[in-house]
Amino acid sequence: MQRAILFSLFLVPTLALAAPFEKGDAKQGKAIHDKQCEGCHAARFSGDGGKIYTRAERRVKSASALAQQVTTCNAMLGNALFPEDELHLAAYLNGQFYKFK
Ligand code: HEC
Repeated sequence: MQRAILFSLFLVPTLALAAPFEKGDAKQGKAIHDKQCEGCHAARFSGDGGKIYTRAERRVKSASALAQQVTTCNAMLGNALFPEDELHLAAYLNGQFYKFK
């Protein structure tokens, strides 16, 4: 919970100034994603972890919802990641799949 609050505080100025997650490093985000996130999603989407982000009924519909979902999934990993890792992940997912402005 505390992490979620810290992360939102961090995110607000970013959103106000520029494209969402501009300060995140998508390359680092992809590396973390492949290691920590892909497996669990792939297990639920017949081997293709990317489908969770492109399916018609996907749940994330805004940059802030994306940030929140990354935090929620990080919690499922026992909060293994730091807030800056979450920012890298959001940058990667937004650049690759969601394309929120
Ligand atoms: C323990 C399993 C698990 C792990 C690990 C996991 N996720 Fe998820 N994730 C889920 C499930 C289940 C959903 C779908 C929730 C739903 O549809 O209600 C989901 C959904 C999402 C979505 C929303 C997709 C949509 O519908 O738009 C994002 C974004 C996401 N995860 C990011 C991540 C990131 C980033 C990580 C790595 C830090 C991660 N997840 C790790 C289980 C996991």
